[in-house]
Amino acid sequence: MRRGLTSYGDAEFSLFLRKAFIKGAGYSDAALERPVIGIADTGSGFNPCHGNMPQLIEAVQRGILLAGGLPVRFPTISVHESFAHPTSMYLRNLMAIDSEEMIRAQPMDAVVLIGGCDKTVPAQLMGAASAGVPAIQLVTGSMLTGSHRGQTVGACTDCRRYWGQYRAGQIDATEIADVNNQLVASVGTCSVMGTASTMACIVEALGVALPGSASPPAVSADRVRVAEATGAQAVAIAKQRLTIDRILTPAAFENALRVLLALGGSTNAIVHLAAIAGRLGFELELRALDRLGRETPVLVNLKPSGEHYMEDFHAAGGMPALLRALKPLLQLDALTVTGRTLGQELDAAPPAFAQDVVRPLDAPIYREGGIAVLWGNLAPGGAIIKQSAADPALMEHEGRAVVFENAADLAARVDSDELDVSPGDVLVLKHIGPRGAPGMPEAGAFPIPRKLLRQGVKDAVRISDGRMSGTAFGTVVLHVTPEAAVGGPLAYVQHGDRIRLSVSRRELQLLVSDDELARRAQAQPLQPPKAERGYRKLWHAHVLQADQGVDFDFLRAAPSGVKVPRS
Ligand code: FES
Repeated sequence: MRRGLTSYGDAEFSLFLRKAFIKGAGYSDAALERPVIGIADTGSGFNPCHGNMPQLIEAVQRGILLAGGLPVRFPTISVHESFAHPTSMYLRNLMAIDSEEMIRAQPMDAVVLIGGCDKTVPAQLMGAASAGVPAIQLVTGSMLTGSHRGQTVGACTDCRRYWGQYRAGQIDATEIADVNNQLVASVGTCSVMGTASTMACIVEALGVALPGSASPPAVSADRVRVAEATGAQAVAIAKQRLTIDRILTPAAFENALRVLLALGGSTNAIVHLAAIAGRLGFELELRALDRLGRETPVLVNLKPSGEHYMEDFHAAGGMPALLRALKPLLQLDALTVTGRTLGQELDAAPPAFAQDVVRPLDAPIYREGGIAVLWGNLAPGGAIIKQSAADPALMEHEGRAVVFENAADLAARVDSDELDVSPGDVLVLKHIGPRGAPGMPEAGAFPIPRKLLRQGVKDAVRISDGRMSGTAFGTVVLHVTPEAAVGGPLAYVQHGDRIRLSVSRRELQLLVSDDELARRAQAQPLQPPKAERGYRKLWHAHVLQADQGVDFDFLRAAPSGVKVPRS
């Protein structure tokens, strides 16, 4: 209760007043002597992915009390993917600021961060990393799968698959409405290896969540038991003063990146890991990440890269099974929130058993990591492609650019019969980057023009400065850096230009001379988006590019010169 006293000019009076107020809520002196464990409550009627928050908080509180601590719940912003305008990414930094400042402002010896939906876990970790307190992450867990006409369905890879069939006229309005009822079968996060599931696995790989805590479904007894254990461990880290910077080390980030690649996980995780690393003064090195990718195969057979759902991953042993398979590639001396190293935790993990969801290193789903990094004159700061969810026939491809200037232009023309587009063309969408949209929306896997769908085209090379949902699939080049809105070469691509993509050579090349690009830049002066007031003004003034995690420049720590991954 003595931490971070309110300033009244008399510290003892501040404490006296604080105690008086909390006693007004019925607390005794004996209760107030215990370690205070804050619980970040991100429950919200607008966030079904956090719909089990009351049960989780009850279990976390039970664990804290059993371990001798005092639980104190506090609210922060909650962000759901489908209830955030213009995009959840735009609000992630606001949630990170809220989390950081409320952790710092209120007297807690440790904090339990409860998040789940895509941006919430990164926001909480960014905030906690900057606040520097002992912190432990609990995810809400994945939703159950549903069933449509005998087929298992789950958000949101199947959302996209069925919507694509509807757009192509293969299913009617009645059937798409039926599908809509089945895609999200319970509260919890998306049931495939989307961003939420990827981040759940990554927090376990980082060591900031309990072993085995990533995969239990939201409505399972396992999830509630994990919550209780998380509360108990929060008291332990409070007593040990095991601060988050001792967990989030370069070795931990390397493990997280290995896991991301082996999961065939969401490309969004790269942006989030860059942001979290930046809060500790580390720089995410895309070239080193790409090197890891060449030697880290995809081992987890989950949609969108594979076949199964999160509940299958849990039944197959969850993260301990994956980490055991990846063991030769991991930094086993990384400290975890249990106070033991990752290697010690793996030695103590439940035994392996036969299953077909997590493969061994010598029988992967995909022989390289799920994500490759591309460079070239179109992306001097890099771009990425989720190769494990792309069409192998398009990975080496040259084609004519069909350009959409922004999202509104795309919406206006993509389904027009007048659109000059043919099979083999490369579709380019500008101005959906961090600053341009704003908030780098998940519009990178934009629709195939109806004209092509009618000709049976199912995939096309698509290039943008935006992101895509972790549940999406296709030959989609994302995060082109610098973005069009700040004068990246993407801004100057014109209809009819030739573009070459070579994933094997990690190349993304606009086949236009430097002189011509310079001429176009001069003829088309930049008009970066601006705002007059409020959060949007802050956003436009301070947001960084994708390679720096789309964080605000003033929120990153001073650079330490340490790059992650190190190898
Ligand atoms: Fe929340 Fe997918 S919408 S995890």
